[in-house]
Amino acid sequence: MTPASMPSISLSAVPETYAGALAFTVVEDKAWSGPLAAADKASGGALRRAADAARFKGEKGKIQLVLGAGEGLPARIVLCGMGKDSPSLLDLNRAGAQILATAATSGDESLSILPHDGSAATAALLVEGAAMRSYRFDGYRTRLKNEQRQSVTAIVGLCDDPDAGADDLEQAAARLAGHYLARDLKHEPANVLYPVAVAERVKAELEPLGVEVTIIDEARMEKEGWGSLLGVGQGSVRDSVVVALHWKGASGGAHKDPVCFVGKGVCFDTGGISLKPAGGMEDMKWDMGGAAAVSGLMKTLAARKAKANVVALIGLVENMPGGNAQRPGDIVTSLSGQTIQVLNTDAEGRLVLADVLWHAQEQYRPRFIVDLATLTGAMLVALGMEKAGLFSNDDELAAQIHAASEATGEYVWRMPMGEEYNKMLDSKEADMRNISAGRWGGSITAACFLERFIQKDQKWAHMDVAGVVWADKAKPMVGTGATGFAVRSLNKLVQDHYEG
Ligand code: BES
Ligand code: MN
Ligand code: ZN
Repeated sequence: MTPASMPSISLSAVPETYAGALAFTVVEDKAWSGPLAAADKASGGALRRAADAARFKGEKGKIQLVLGAGEGLPARIVLCGMGKDSPSLLDLNRAGAQILATAATSGDESLSILPHDGSAATAALLVEGAAMRSYRFDGYRTRLKNEQRQSVTAIVGLCDDPDAGADDLEQAAARLAGHYLARDLKHEPANVLYPVAVAERVKAELEPLGVEVTIIDEARMEKEGWGSLLGVGQGSVRDSVVVALHWKGASGGAHKDPVCFVGKGVCFDTGGISLKPAGGMEDMKWDMGGAAAVSGLMKTLAARKAKANVVALIGLVENMPGGNAQRPGDIVTSLSGQTIQVLNTDAEGRLVLADVLWHAQEQYRPRFIVDLATLTGAMLVALGMEKAGLFSNDDELAAQIHAASEATGEYVWRMPMGEEYNKMLDSKEADMRNISAGRWGGSITAACFLERFIQKDQKWAHMDVAGVVWADKAKPMVGTGATGFAVRSLNKLVQDHYEG
């Protein structure tokens, strides 16, 4: 395994002389003052001339690199526009990310960012965004030239009162830790991270932070009757495994009524006997993106010692077409007792989740369950790579998730469910079939399938993250590759509504 290394992040007072690359945030059309005006003066007006020549006024999203501004100044100065209105927390994260992108491989080892308002809180958010964009999965690139690697290893927020931002920085570090873990887990190929390897990695990451880790192995699942999940894994030589992560952080030692997150962890999805076409099949290494997000979330919650009682369950399997693989037409008995006719072995995620969801309810009686799954290709058809599909039987929970997602830029869009869709899963030979009898609305019928394993009055939401766990085209905060989607929004969900 080759985890990405995270740059160091810190806050510091504005120094006499700057070291490394330097970035200023600039408010649109506002006279330059403070350290920015001082730097311009030291440059003999070169900064201003460069900005003017580039028609840079500080517009939101605009960025201007100035090289060689003058003697005694850093060779690389970045001006980052913030627009006229006071920026949101998300705007600040994004500005930091944008700044990092201009300096990442510059050769400079440190990047200092100086916010327009000099505040420590602002600086911490800029630094956090820069660190998010810093993520590189290049541990396997043994021939990469030094100048192709990221040079920046230290990101410093310059501000008036660094001590005032100590807590902000600690919170940012906790969010980053979970975010990086989720991205690492998605990037690692399936020969390295097969189910038991994921379980071991997650245990090694989380147990030291005080998370209780329970491994549910195949022998136990066989005894208890997890027939739906085990059916998916039986075509693989790799054992299936379920990991339960419990963070008992609620004050007063309250261990009752946890909130619960469930992740689909298909370490590789070939489709099984209903084999997928070869083109693009390599993408299915991140078919454990739901499990990765949930694991990252737990790392963030534990790292910041969230005052909440939180359980996460990840169902880890490999969907392979081996000699013992399940066949189209097989009927399996799920942990809930309901029988499922498996008409397409490529609709495996829902089979995994069916048993994990049932176990979550029987074992923990949670206040809510949110599951995350790269469940359907149809999700990409519906919402593209910008938003995840959100399905829920509870308007309040759905609204809370939506608000948290808007605030963090991990966007979701509510999708419908209903009996008209659900009935397309009825089977003449078993309690249900694992694929719809109709052709359309595949993400919705998949959600309806999951709902058949949700007990009466159980608050539940399902996020189909098939389109958002991986970015082919660069996203502002994370660039390309694994996005870490939902670590930050679900952390915010817990923080805003389920702590204390
Ligand atoms: N993991 C896939 C869904 C997926 C496809 C995610 C492409 C991301 C990109 C899932 O297991 C799957 O194969 N779903 C099938 C369901 C179908 C057989 C009803 C699909 O979407 O084609
Ligand atoms: Mn599949
Ligand atoms: Zn899958």
